[in-house]
Amino acid sequence: MNVLFINIKELIQVREKAVDFLSGKEMNILPTIKNAFLLVENGLIADYGLMKNCPKTTFKTIDATGRMILPSWCDSHTHLVYAGNRESEFVDRIKGFSYKEIAENGGGILNSAKKLQQTSEEDLYNQSKVRLEEIIQLGTGAVEIKSGYGLTKDAELKILRVIRRLKQNYPIEIKATFLGAHAVPAEYKNNKSAYLQMLINDILTTIQKENLADFIDIFCETGYFSVNDTHQILEAGKKYGLQGKIHVNQFTTIGGIQVGIKHNVLSVDHLEEMRTEDIDALKNTKTMPVALPSCSYFLNIPYTPARKMIDAGLPLALATDYNPGSTPSGNMNFVVATACIKMKMTPEEAINAATINGAYAMNLQEKVGTITKGKLANLILTKEINSYNFIPYSFGNHQIEKVFLKGEEIKKT
Ligand code: NIG
Ligand code: FE
Repeated sequence: MNVLFINIKELIQVREKAVDFLSGKEMNILPTIKNAFLLVENGLIADYGLMKNCPKTTFKTIDATGRMILPSWCDSHTHLVYAGNRESEFVDRIKGFSYKEIAENGGGILNSAKKLQQTSEEDLYNQSKVRLEEIIQLGTGAVEIKSGYGLTKDAELKILRVIRRLKQNYPIEIKATFLGAHAVPAEYKNNKSAYLQMLINDILTTIQKENLADFIDIFCETGYFSVNDTHQILEAGKKYGLQGKIHVNQFTTIGGIQVGIKHNVLSVDHLEEMRTEDIDALKNTKTMPVALPSCSYFLNIPYTPARKMIDAGLPLALATDYNPGSTPSGNMNFVVATACIKMKMTPEEAINAATINGAYAMNLQEKVGTITKGKLANLILTKEINSYNFIPYSFGNHQIEKVFLKGEEIKKT
């Protein structure tokens, strides 16, 4: 797709030199060009600059007067392929039951797994595509989707095949993560190691054969999987060419971050509970910490201590965690606003965290996340706004007028 945007009030997140990710103080810098043009050729960013240097072309031209352009959101952590919903657990929590109590009484991940096992691949695809289309309209241009609500070989592969089909049918960038170690199924309650062996010796082989996943993940948490289980899963992932991304430090701190770093995981996600030694362990590594503020909001649990982490020099990415249990929302605009309001991130930090740092957490930093020549023209065109601060300020709403993937406007279907 070829298109020329002219009179852009402010072109946001412009980086001539590609960066992998931003850490510490760098996160507070958001480079922009005021009164800009942006040229898209064959779906890629071909050129940009001040309006006075705008080239003449025969391309379709879009006048962005009063409006801004930024790279699409990069949502590096979702579980958006799931079956049914869990709104009754939501009501139970209002009545005073905890997330843990609900999970122990047959709710939680096992509840979603039961529903998914009984859902056909076709039906699962149809339920999931609605959510994918929804997040595209909310400005997401790259997304990671996990399995983990199957918990049997058939059901886990069903999820991964649905993700592959979404990837084939939609222009958004999608990465797939195998999260078989999300919870221990009831049949393996007293034999967790047999479950892990099944994941490692059986499912992973098929995943590799059919090239169904990019990453491997595990829920490293008290009552779910231990540090040693995490070590085994990450080791197995490596054997099958899958880099790790772990759910860790959501409710308790058991040393999962340290084992993740030992295995050079791409990201450590959740981090609602962080000790000083956990922050220290992440310093000078290539592992991206990922905060999920919508999960904290929905479950009423602490927010990731973003201020402490960024002030300690760490990078941070923001993602939604879109799933039926802890975060039934895939709205990155809400995530960015909540990061500012509840985690005291500046708008610059939050936008960097939700674009280039999110891209890095999916290994997509060379393709998306900044306005850089050669990257995909996955873009948000805002409504008329006075400053980019208005994006997080107008929480619960969004300031998106149009979205573009590979330079093509994606209209609501
Ligand atoms: O990332 N924490 C683990 N897994 C999901 C939620 C699981 C669920 O309740 O369905 C999460 O929050
Ligand atoms: Fe998650």
